[in-house]
Amino acid sequence: MNDKKEASLVLQNVSHSYGATAVLKELTLQVNAGEVVVLVGPSGCGKTTILNLLSGYIQPSSGTVHKTGIIRTVYQQDGLFPWLTVSENIDMGLQPIGNTTQRTKERKELVELIHLEGFENHYPHELSGGMRQRVELARALAGRSDILLMDEPFSALDYQTRLRMRLELVRILKQRPRTVVFVTHDIEEAAQLADRVLVLSNRPATICRELVIGTARPRDLTSGTVIETMKEILQALGLPQ
Ligand SMILES: Nc1ncnc2c1ncn2[C@@H]1O[C@H](COP(=O)(O)OP(=O)(O)O)[C@@H](O)[C@H]1O
Ligand SMILES: [Mg+2]
Repeated sequence: MNDKKEASLVLQNVSHSYGATAVLKELTLQVNAGEVVVLVGPSGCGKTTILNLLSGYIQPSSGTVHKTGIIRTVYQQDGLFPWLTVSENIDMGLQPIGNTTQRTKERKELVELIHLEGFENHYPHELSGGMRQRVELARALAGRSDILLMDEPFSALDYQTRLRMRLELVRILKQRPRTVVFVTHDIEEAAQLADRVLVLSNRPATICRELVIGTARPRDLTSGTVIETMKEILQALGLPQ
């Protein structure tokens, strides 16, 4: 398998503006290999912009971006190709693997990993929202990806599905470790998933709090760690606890 130790992301002194709108101001952040970093911040503060800079989709107005490893992105919703089946969507991620036998084996393993056996020939519109996000995750894990950028991947799902998806993600990452940058405005999600939470300020975004969480995953919603982390995030955001 790929060597996770080499994957890492760095934004160094990055500022970014869209025209006259300053979105990021001298932001520096580093994501270590194998780490799950969760970015939390108010709507419009620049979270998606940070992911777009990390993926190389956009270039910063100033500052430098450094990345080691193959990056894949999981979007909030509708990231799948609607005219392709589950198998064909996963194949898009498998393309770097040249050998057909290997690809077939890998596709089967991924379908099992996301518990969608029997749905291989279904189209996205025939799946629930949670199932579609699992397919997106499988596609992002396929091939030789090292880094997952996840932009509010569960926020379009209903609450119970969201809770289940968090557990699914934890289970899946145990089997296929990746470096993860996960964006959410859901502080509960941040507290359950992160090795490290970065709380962002309003635009132009700066990191106003960094919380390192030492507890292993999965974490119960009502565990001391999760409750304490949520309190600290609320405090950093200036919201009542
Ligand atoms: N391509 C763009 N052109 C102009 N303004 C943009 C563009 N993308 C984002 N913005 C603006 O930049 C700010 C940050 O956007 P975004 O990074 O999407 O925030 P978030 O993901 O935290 O909600 C918002 O005010 C948004 O309207
Ligand atoms: Mg966004």
